[in-house]
Amino acid sequence: MRYFLAIFAMVVVAVVAVLGFRGTHFRKPPLYIIPDMEFQPKLRPQTANSFFSNGRSSQLPVPGSIARSTTLQSIHGPVLAFENVPVNTGLISGTTNYVEHNQLRVTAELLKRGQQRFNISCAPCHGALADGNGITRKIGAMAVVANLHDKRIVEMTDGELFFIVTHGRNLMGAYGPTVAVPDRWAIIAYLRALQLARLGVEEDLPEPMRATLAQ
Ligand code: HEC
Repeated sequence: MRYFLAIFAMVVVAVVAVLGFRGTHFRKPPLYIIPDMEFQPKLRPQTANSFFSNGRSSQLPVPGSIARSTTLQSIHGPVLAFENVPVNTGLISGTTNYVEHNQLRVTAELLKRGQQRFNISCAPCHGALADGNGITRKIGAMAVVANLHDKRIVEMTDGELFFIVTHGRNLMGAYGPTVAVPDRWAIIAYLRALQLARLGVEEDLPEPMRATLAQ
């Protein structure tokens, strides 16, 4: 019993010593028996630092950075990159149906951008004419590349093409991670121009130009 009382008193003292002062403020720095991750070699924001040539710990965004709040001008008005809207998904909002038409205003500038991007991102496989005769076909790296002039593909909505480019389909990989949203729509606008160049009929031309065609 004597031992029990002595041990009990010691335990009470130990528990109060360890837990009793939790949350109390001290002037002296604490003892770090197990420092966990209290000390980390990191740069504090907005302090001086000699690592960078401009002597600051906080660096400016790299040129070309896109702010999260940057809007894209779609045909339905400005949208943000993370919004669940047709220009970002190719789908009619709240459904799994594809939108019919290009979600950016198709201008000569957009087509020019589309031509450049198509020749970089798609032509290696689908060919500069989109007929499936790209360099990967010639060197035998890829046996079946879709001919984008197939009736089935010509009849697809712009939204479906956007969805295919974004997520890939069958053997084709996804280009969403590497081709930005406005560039994907630009590519689709240019692809439509390529298809029209092959399938267009005289009636597609404005009246004054038809006369020159006949000559
Ligand atoms: C690495 C080669 C490669 C590149 C680059 C590539 N594609 Fe494809 N694409 C394919 C192959 C292969 C298929 C056929 C997929 C299948 O049916 O298995 C295909 C199919 C397609 C289809 C038809 C899908 C269907 O439903 O049959 C479309 C549309 C398409 N590609 C558009 C594009 C566009 C636009 C780009 C440029 C952003 C592009 N592709 C870049 C290889 C490529």
